[in-house]
Amino acid sequence: MCGIFGYIGSKRATPILIDGMRRLEYRGYDSTGIAIKDGDISIFKKVGKVSEMRSILPLNIQGTSGIGHTRWATHGGVTDANAHPHASASGDVVIVHNGIINNSRLLRASLMAQGIELKSETDSEALAHMIEIELAIDDDPEAAVRRALQKAVGTWGLCVLFKNHDLIVVARNGSPLVIGKGDGETFISSDGPTLSEFTDRVVYLEDGDIAVVTATSIKRSSLKGDSKKVEVTVLEKSWGEAELGAYEHFMLKEIHEQPDALRHCISGRLDRVRGNGRLGGLRLSPSDLAKVPHVRLIGCGTALNAAEIGQLLIEKLARIPAVTHIASEFRYNEPVINPNALHFVISQSGETADTLSAVKEIQLKGGQVHGVINVVGSTIARQCRQGVYIHSGPEQSVASTKAFSNMVAALTMFALQVGRSRSTSKERGQEIIHGLQQIPHLIEEYLENQGPIMEAVELVKNAKSVFFLGRGLSAPVAKEGALKLMEVAYIPCLAYPAGEMKHGPIALLEEGSPIIFIVPNDHVKEKTVSAIHESKARGAKIILIHEEGDDISLEGDVNIAIPKVHSLLSPLLTVVPLQLIAYHTAITLGHDVDRPRNLAKSVTVE
Ligand code: M6R
Repeated sequence: MCGIFGYIGSKRATPILIDGMRRLEYRGYDSTGIAIKDGDISIFKKVGKVSEMRSILPLNIQGTSGIGHTRWATHGGVTDANAHPHASASGDVVIVHNGIINNSRLLRASLMAQGIELKSETDSEALAHMIEIELAIDDDPEAAVRRALQKAVGTWGLCVLFKNHDLIVVARNGSPLVIGKGDGETFISSDGPTLSEFTDRVVYLEDGDIAVVTATSIKRSSLKGDSKKVEVTVLEKSWGEAELGAYEHFMLKEIHEQPDALRHCISGRLDRVRGNGRLGGLRLSPSDLAKVPHVRLIGCGTALNAAEIGQLLIEKLARIPAVTHIASEFRYNEPVINPNALHFVISQSGETADTLSAVKEIQLKGGQVHGVINVVGSTIARQCRQGVYIHSGPEQSVASTKAFSNMVAALTMFALQVGRSRSTSKERGQEIIHGLQQIPHLIEEYLENQGPIMEAVELVKNAKSVFFLGRGLSAPVAKEGALKLMEVAYIPCLAYPAGEMKHGPIALLEEGSPIIFIVPNDHVKEKTVSAIHESKARGAKIILIHEEGDDISLEGDVNIAIPKVHSLLSPLLTVVPLQLIAYHTAITLGHDVDRPRNLAKSVTVE
């Protein structure tokens, strides 16, 4: 999705903006641009990557303040003219904008009626002209931005540069923006973690905020004009490295980081003696947990698949009803909220608009929401104010891998904690803890001996479609495998609980159709074998993910063995070969695996 990076200080702004924008690249974008104030404001923008935009920059731009943008098209096609920044008619006001201005058609029509020529098809450009018109009234940049935004309906993360004022005005409403405080310099980013390369002191803006930023000061106020306190938060050092290192792609790096990411996630959160989870951030006592009537889990994409595993574990261990919801549907389905129930929202980025809307809906109806979030200080984490950080470290690849594992691990610890406050015995708890502590090592063992992944790639790479089938805890794993392969290899995939195959999807099978079966050694294994037989009888080629030493491997055409694992924890192992199949298929087909087409890392629009 769109990204913003801004700088004001005493250094040359251009290299800093380029560096910041390079760090935003992983979010997905189609065009980029920067505006640098060096006397006048100069704008350089272009369809394509940051490196392509960089190639059109003159070498001698000296300005010490500027704003940059990576655009993911919403209003208007992918063209140089639609790329940000956008300038006002005189060029004295220049903006970059994330979000959507819903009444832009009216605003644009009104500007055109005033004789203003609009140079792009975007909703954002209107803001630059509106601010300039307001600025003519009193030459007060903050007041001009405030009055212009009061006429706009929609969402914004907005940065405004003024030719005649040494400051940047920023505003936030429904689209994240964070200010980084340096020594004699100030940074602005739509993505908090990117600031950690420049400073560890940040100011999170809230919806409805406007801030006036200079090299040495930050002044914060509300859209109405009331002044607000500037609270500086010190960023924790993230354990993960956002650089590629020896890996060719972030997706592969992040798959390999899973053992360490899991160690970080479970560290200090397991009480072996009592066989219990110890998730302090939940702020729930055992007696609170004992009274929970039901749990709802909400997320999108990979987070939703992790939530489905969490749902099954909560029911198994805690014996309370749990249900999963697609975040984008949740608030439109008029949900009935029980204030005693627990609601978990799961999100890697902590910025997903659909998930954030669900949080607000639940809170509005008096419900309690806990976040299961990776990015510290992200909007959803701050909106929930309670929950669990999953500590995956920075995840750069659009296709989520290590965040999935840590979401599952965090939900497993939660299920254990509720379970122990109700019916789960200490011995069962200790057994699960032992199993969880083995997982990082087992993943390492598997990654050292990955099995015939490339044989699986050969079967799927030219397939019309690929089925992913599993039962019980492996059904959401099948969904996750299908999502990964679709995202990065652009192959249509279908994921089903294996028993559902015969109720319809089996009609699609032809001679040679590849099916990936996820069959750990659990209580539904034998049931899945029936689906394998039914599929083979119709000519399907079977790729089998199974536990080592299991004679079920006789059933597969390609057999990928994972180490033996506790049956409740199998998703943490079975997902890894699926991630590798997706990665290697995309690479074999020549796709940009870290930045798959049309996708964005963090989806900040509804
Ligand atoms: O940041 P979030 O976890 O809230 O993101 C949710 C989905 O957009 C995300 O999981 C998406 O499906 C990934 N690209 C999956 O690999």
